[in-house]
Amino acid sequence: MKILFVADVFGVPGRRAVEEQLPGLREQLEADLCVVNGENAADGAGITPRIAARLLAAGADAITLGNHVWRRPEIGPYLAESERVVRPANVSAGSPGRGLTVVPGADGTPVAIINLLGQLFIHSAVGPFEVVDGLVDEARKRAQVVLVDFHAEATSEKVALARWLDGRVTAVIGTHTHVQTNDARVLPGGTATISDAGMTGPHDSVIGVQADLAIARMRTGMPVRFKPAEGGVRLEGVVIECAADGKAMSCEPVRVEA
Ligand code: FE2
Repeated sequence: MKILFVADVFGVPGRRAVEEQLPGLREQLEADLCVVNGENAADGAGITPRIAARLLAAGADAITLGNHVWRRPEIGPYLAESERVVRPANVSAGSPGRGLTVVPGADGTPVAIINLLGQLFIHSAVGPFEVVDGLVDEARKRAQVVLVDFHAEATSEKVALARWLDGRVTAVIGTHTHVQTNDARVLPGGTATISDAGMTGPHDSVIGVQADLAIARMRTGMPVRFKPAEGGVRLEGVVIECAADGKAMSCEPVRVEA
């Protein structure tokens, strides 16, 4: 089975890249399943029901989120209903939506998808290591192939979670930093991993934001309204190949100029 993961879709440029590139890329890679991180799809922060529907229509089988999950309040009721859009599992108890879902691949093979937030520099409500074992056990009752989107800031935390889950899940994919790391690999137990899958959006920027605005906020400490940049748009992500038992065989970065 081949799984294409599309890294954090940023604003209109990222959404346009998905709509223009994803159908052809899925075909070219012969991907059986596609998961898209849509955490920054609405203007750089959050996602709306309408945008989620458009990403799904463009070829995503499932959408994962991150620390900006509640930025657009209208997403709450949608998450409560949707089986295709997962929010981080370790937000406050009682939040709408789910942190684990199972979707079928092209041939009907079930694939479990877990979304988790890091703790370092992000401050999740519950530590990811506290909940991950229970989630993985539940996922493995429903699917052999299990993919974890770990939305976290620190490389150390992402490497540690991948090592902790090695041999128990198919892939641990790091997201959130928007800078693709050069460490896509399969760990000894058969878990594919990359510390960060990158960004689908405007790379002529400060991680998606117009550079002058990001610099002004950092230099002055004053509030500056961020706007998505426009130039250097790329679709980034990772493609994973795995066997029927869920063990990964390869993990390769994806980078396509849009
Ligand atoms: Fe994020």
